[in-house]
Amino acid sequence: MKQPLKFASPLLDEATIAAAADVLRSGHITSGVWVERFEAALSEFCGARPVRAVTSATAAMEIALQLCGIGRGDEVITCAQSFFAVPNMIVKQGATPVFVDCDPLTRNIDLAAVAARIGPRTRAIMPTHWPGSLVDLDALYALARDRKLRVIEDAALVMGSTFNGRPVGAVGDLVSFSFHPNKNMTSIEGGALVVNDADEAKRVEVLRFHGIERLADGTRDVGFPGGKFNLPDVNARIGLAQLERLPGFLSQRRALAERYFARLATDPACVLPPRPAAGDGQTWNMFCILLPLERMRMSRQAFRDALAARGIATGVSYEALHLCTLGRRFGYHRGDLPNTERIADSTVTLPLHAGMTLDDVDRVCDACAEILAVPRTEPASGSAPAKR
Ligand SMILES: Cc1ncc(COP(=O)(O)O)c(C=O)c1O
Repeated sequence: MKQPLKFASPLLDEATIAAAADVLRSGHITSGVWVERFEAALSEFCGARPVRAVTSATAAMEIALQLCGIGRGDEVITCAQSFFAVPNMIVKQGATPVFVDCDPLTRNIDLAAVAARIGPRTRAIMPTHWPGSLVDLDALYALARDRKLRVIEDAALVMGSTFNGRPVGAVGDLVSFSFHPNKNMTSIEGGALVVNDADEAKRVEVLRFHGIERLADGTRDVGFPGGKFNLPDVNARIGLAQLERLPGFLSQRRALAERYFARLATDPACVLPPRPAAGDGQTWNMFCILLPLERMRMSRQAFRDALAARGIATGVSYEALHLCTLGRRFGYHRGDLPNTERIADSTVTLPLHAGMTLDDVDRVCDACAEILAVPRTEPASGSAPAKR
């Protein structure tokens, strides 16, 4: 069998590994000078806005909610087609997630649905940007300004994307990034929060380290039970090296996505993400297709198993958040958010990472075509219909 093809994989070169080893040898391995340098580079990347590094995007979102003072009795409007971390952090603050549907093609939050769900308890909007197509930031912020709401952008999947020529993070309110190994760049685990000013940045520093504030007399105080989310220097050093390589990673990802578009446009008949115009600043962290389940005579799991048998790993991005046990606790049912549900039921994430080649994409596409071409064996007359 050919080499297994991972669904996502980071690219760490020898120079990065050596740089991380230097930090390990330095004797200072937790948060220090490399975190400061990483934050400075991230800030430069985000139009000089202040950025603070943390241990994950999940931590960044938790801190963002705390920064906005969101808690019991508050509502946060978010999209049901996203990752568990988003509603988890809202609920963890004691607030209520209000799920709305996504656009059927881009999977981004439906801003008309957001407007319709804003009520007296709404405090913030928390949208997730999808690879290949960002949330319309002009429309999002026009709505947020008009209704006096905070915005926490989940930009975990789109580091390096641009909107109207400006990088995600360079405009807006609070923006969180993920540096998990599956993302456009990695710090092993890690994340960052872009904030508005020096006061918010200071507040993040407190919230990411126990809530500790230093007093003038040299002692410390805690007024809010903060977490422990400071990024170690080893991770920051790796993140810094990855940030330098990000343009190369993104252009390889774009080339791979283009190949998927070219190959999957007709064969097999899957629903593809919207194809952005050349040079419009989109990035490709994932390539998610929708399977034509009603025509396939095969379940999604059987399709994924058949790819796995050929050494090709896939993912499901994402389950319908309003229908998971936590989501149902807030009164949601199947049928409430049809676009999200249709996507959650039929989506498959194909392998896409900067270490892949165009031949790898061809291998995936050939395998998809072969699996989907298997003709259905019609049931013999009198026997029960084949199970879908
Ligand atoms: C859309 C989205 N948001 C947030 C996160 C959380 O990222 P992290 O693992 O850095 O906490 C993920 C992780 O996969 C994600 O896919």
